[in-house]
Amino acid sequence: MSYSIQLATEADLHEMTEVMVAALSDDSCWQGMKGSWTDKEEYEFTLETLRVSMNGSQAGAYKCWKVIDKNGKILAWAGLGYPSSLGEEQKNWVITTTTYQIPPGRNQKILEFFRNSILLLPMKHGYDNAKHFQYQRRGLGRLLTEKCNEVADASRAATYVRAQSKAAGLFIQMGYEVLEKIDFDLCDFGANLKDGKTSVFVMKREPGAKEQQGRRFPDWIEDEV
Ligand SMILES: CC(C)(COP(=O)(O)OP(=O)(O)OC[C@H]1O[C@@H](n2cnc3c(N)ncnc32)[C@H](O)[C@@H]1OP(=O)(O)O)[C@@H](O)C(=O)NCCC(=O)NCCS
Repeated sequence: MSYSIQLATEADLHEMTEVMVAALSDDSCWQGMKGSWTDKEEYEFTLETLRVSMNGSQAGAYKCWKVIDKNGKILAWAGLGYPSSLGEEQKNWVITTTTYQIPPGRNQKILEFFRNSILLLPMKHGYDNAKHFQYQRRGLGRLLTEKCNEVADASRAATYVRAQSKAAGLFIQMGYEVLEKIDFDLCDFGANLKDGKTSVFVMKREPGAKEQQGRRFPDWIEDEV
């Protein structure tokens, strides 16, 4: 299968949301945090959160790349925050235009009809979000991280991520170092999970750091992973 990478735009938000919801469906952190949200509430929350990033993209503080197949279908995506000097007014714009409030003048009934009925129709006819899973572990995360590294290197900028356990192994191979590993138990926060023990890795990549396939975590972490 042939893939290509393109900049994502606001028009991609719904497809990006579908990919993200599918990618996080086996992530204990995310599942714990969701609590009793319905699928629809999870979708809406994800969509609106991504919209904030996309507004950041219009303001020059963020860029998002999508991996697409030959039909333009989004298989995976990654976002990169840029060092920016947004003024207070711009920051405000990024945040305030992304709440659930509907701007005046829009027809709320038609909007609800689309959100609650039309957008869900493909599922009724057999469309399955979970099929996005077939695109995991095919090197797309690596491809997207390579793209982000390329951009960071061109601007000689360091890159930071907060990676979940599952993703940390990818970043360690892509030139990132672990600054800190935070272990916690989601059950301590009331999550209803069989095993709530998980970690978040705070990681940093210096510009120019080389990729090393098969690279392992340093000893102080390896013992625990
Ligand atoms: C983690 C994630 C980004 C990996 O993307 P991917 O496209 O499946 O990864 P790749 O195929 O490029 O894998 C590259 C390497 O990462 C590591 N890796 C990927 N998925 C892994 C997993 N589930 N468990 C352990 N290591 C994993 C492996 O070392 C893999 O190389 P290998 O397949 O040759 O062993 C993806 O599963 C995902 O979307 N997760 C949810 C969202 C998320 O955590 N995003 C990162 C936010 S910081």
